[in-house]
Amino acid sequence: MSSDELTGASEKKGFSTRKAFIFAAIGSAVGLGNIWRFPYVAYEGGGGAFVIPYLVALLFAGIPLLFLDYAMGHRYRGSAPLAFRRVSRYGEWFGWWQVLITVVIGIYYPAIIAWAIRYTGFSIDKAWGDDPEKFLFGSFLQAAKTPGPTFDVVPGVLVPMIIVWTITLGVLAMGVQGGIGRTAVIFIPVLVIAFGALVVVALTLPGATTGLNALFTPEWGALGDPSVWVSAFGQIFFSLSVGFGIMITYASYVGRKTDLTGSGSVVAFSNSGFELFAGIGVFAVLGFLATNTGQPVGEVVADGIGLAFVAFPAILNEAPAGVLLGLLFFGSLVVAGLTSLISVVEVGISAIRDKTGVGRVAGTMILGLPMAVVSCVLLGTTGGVFVLDTMDNFINSFGILFVAALSMLALAWVWKRLPGLAEHVNAHSSIKLLGWWRWLVALVVPAVLLVMLVLELRKNLAEPYEGYPAELLGVFGWGIVIAIPFLAMLLSLLPWQRGVDLEDPGSDQLDHADRTDEGSLR
Ligand code: ALA
Repeated sequence: MSSDELTGASEKKGFSTRKAFIFAAIGSAVGLGNIWRFPYVAYEGGGGAFVIPYLVALLFAGIPLLFLDYAMGHRYRGSAPLAFRRVSRYGEWFGWWQVLITVVIGIYYPAIIAWAIRYTGFSIDKAWGDDPEKFLFGSFLQAAKTPGPTFDVVPGVLVPMIIVWTITLGVLAMGVQGGIGRTAVIFIPVLVIAFGALVVVALTLPGATTGLNALFTPEWGALGDPSVWVSAFGQIFFSLSVGFGIMITYASYVGRKTDLTGSGSVVAFSNSGFELFAGIGVFAVLGFLATNTGQPVGEVVADGIGLAFVAFPAILNEAPAGVLLGLLFFGSLVVAGLTSLISVVEVGISAIRDKTGVGRVAGTMILGLPMAVVSCVLLGTTGGVFVLDTMDNFINSFGILFVAALSMLALAWVWKRLPGLAEHVNAHSSIKLLGWWRWLVALVVPAVLLVMLVLELRKNLAEPYEGYPAELLGVFGWGIVIAIPFLAMLLSLLPWQRGVDLEDPGSDQLDHADRTDEGSLR
C-alpha cells in the first residue's frame, strides 16, 4: 500500500494514473450517444448518407476540439467556468454556458438509462411481445396522445430513474479517483466484452449484410442537406463529450506530464470505433428484419428515439440466444450510460465547488438533488418521451454547437490563446499541435458550424421539429437554448469564493497535486 493510500490522500487527488484518466474519458465518451443515439441519427440521416459527414466531423472538428478542451482544462486547472475565467475576466460566461448544457443533458439522459434497466429485465421473458413498437410507446412509456409535458407519473420509468440517480450521486460523492476513476476501470472492460459478443452474433444473422450495405453505401445527394451535416457534427460533439465542459473538467484532474494528445486520440478512436460497432450491430439487425419482412431497410421500423428499443426487441424475438443478446445489449446500454451520466453531472459539481468552495459531498448534493427531482418529474411521466426528444434535439443542434463555435472564436481571436495552449500541450504530448490545429480551431470549424447553424435555424423556423406543438418546442427547445446564455451570464456575475486564484496559473508552475479533489489551485 502506498503512503497515499495509508493516509487516504489518494482519495483527495485527481486521477491517480494516466490509465484511470483514459478509462474515465472513454467512459464519458462511450455512452448512450454511441449505442442509442448514433444508430437512430444515422438511420434518420439516411444511413449511408450519414457516414461521410460523420467522419468529416470527427477528424476535422471533434478531435481538434477534444484537444482544445484537454488543453484548456490542463493548462488552466479548473472546471469550465474557472478555466475560462483564468483566460479572461469575461470568459467565465462560456464556462457556465457549458455547465448549463450539461444540466439539460443530465436531466433527460437518466430516463434512457432507466428504460434500458427495464428492458434488461424484459429481455428475460420478451415482455414486449410481437409488436415491440406498440409496447414501447403504449404499455411501457404510456406516451400521451398529445406531445407535451404531463403530470401523469409512469412508475415503471420513475422508479428506475430514482435508482439511476442514487447510483450516480453515490459514485460522484466518492470523488474523482475513488468514484469516477474506479467505476470506469471496472465498467469499460465489461462493456467492451458484452458489446463485442453482441456484434459478433448480430453479424451472423441472415440478411445482416443488407443492413450493412444500407449503412455504408454513401448517398452523395444527401451531402447537400445541411440537416445531415448539423446532426453529424452534433452527434460527434455529444458522443465525444466535447464542447460542453466534460473534457475540460477531466483534464484538470490529470498529472502534469500526461501525453494529452496521445490520450485524446485513444479516446476519440475508441469512441468512434464503439459507435461504428453499435451502428453495425443495429443495422445488421435491421437487415435481418428487412429480409424477414421483405421491406427495404429504411422502412422496417419507425425511426427516432425508439429505434434501439424497437429494433433490438424485434430481433430478439427471432434470433437464436435472444435472451442472452437482450441482456448483453440492454446491460451494455445501462453501463455505458451510467459512466457518461457521471461525467455529465461532474461538470456542474466541479464548477459549483470551484465557485463556492463547498466540499465534494455538499457540491454533489447541491446540484444533484435538484437535478434529480426535475429529471424525475419531467421524464418519469407520460409526456416524458416528447420532452426528452425535444431537449435532446435542440441542445445538440443549437446549444452545444453554438457555444463551441463562439468559444473557439473568442479563444483564437479575442484572447489569442491558441499558440500558448498548443505550446502547453506540445511540451509532453506525442502528437504535436501545429499550424493545422490552429487553423481548424480558429477558422474552419467555427465558420462551418455557424453556417450550418444558420441553415438549421431557417429550417426549424419553417418547419417545427417533428411537427410538435409550439408550446412544447417553445419551452423545452427554443426556450432552453435561448435562456441558457442569459442564465450563464448571471452565474458569471456571482462572486467567487474567497482565496481562489483567478489568475492564469502559468504553464510550468503546476503539479499534479495542485488540482485535487479538495478543490482548485489556490
Ligand atoms: N458522450 C456521452 C454519450 O455519448 C454523453 O452518450
